[in-house]
Amino acid sequence: MTNNQQQTTPNPSQEEGRKREEQEKKFNANNQQLTTNNQKTITIRDISIDDLAPIYHLGERLFTRDRYPSLYRTWDEWEVARLYNTDWEYCLVAEIEGEMAGFILGTIFTKHSVTYGYLNWMGVEPKFQRHGVGDRLVDKLIERMIGENVQLVLADTDPENTPAINFFKRKGFNGERKHVFLSMNLTEHEYYSKLISYERDRKAR
Ligand SMILES: CC(C)(COP(=O)(O)OP(=O)(O)OC[C@H]1O[C@@H](n2cnc3c(N)ncnc32)[C@H](O)[C@@H]1OP(=O)(O)O)[C@@H](O)C(=O)NCCC(=O)NCCS
Repeated sequence: MTNNQQQTTPNPSQEEGRKREEQEKKFNANNQQLTTNNQKTITIRDISIDDLAPIYHLGERLFTRDRYPSLYRTWDEWEVARLYNTDWEYCLVAEIEGEMAGFILGTIFTKHSVTYGYLNWMGVEPKFQRHGVGDRLVDKLIERMIGENVQLVLADTDPENTPAINFFKRKGFNGERKHVFLSMNLTEHEYYSKLISYERDRKAR
């Protein structure tokens, strides 16, 4: 046995201490009741079928066209229903005093033997923002993802969404890259507009 190995082998009391620490960590992880900065209790729980409509409507208020132009297009009720259906274990709700304070919808996938977590959507009720709700939602989601061997977590948002960018950076996300969205109005395009007319005429015949 090398010196190095001797140093890392715990003696019985160290071992006991480590176990206790692990138990405490587990207890804290499962004890999903935490307090906001101003001492209100935040409960993080699994999503349930009754949450789908409230999550969708909160998202409608948060992901508005003027504030998040590229998000608005893809936020719809099917998005919530789809993730509930396929990834319910990565869909969490935050409550404060029985009221929905926020949600997070995530997913995991494996590519080239690396397991990734992806944070699809998250939102916090405006009156509860900046009270640590987003913080607790991300922590709980990542804790779940770690349980499934996730090594890298991805998040994205509109480049104008400063609150979210600040939030993600504060949580430890980095490696920011700009992504360019382009669009084309087919009815104004020289060639495709003719195809549209052709198709319309064909259907009318
Ligand atoms: C991004 C969001 C989820 C953060 O949730 P939250 O509960 O307010 O976040 P927390 O209280 O845990 O963390 C607060 C930190 O986030 C950042 N932040 C949050 N709101 C901010 C704002 N309006 N301006 C600047 N930074 C902000 C800051 O770093 C802040 O720390 P500070 O208060 O010490 O400055 C919330 O602002 C939100 O719902 N935004 C609208 C939806 C959205 O953009 N979702 C993300 C893309 S899917």
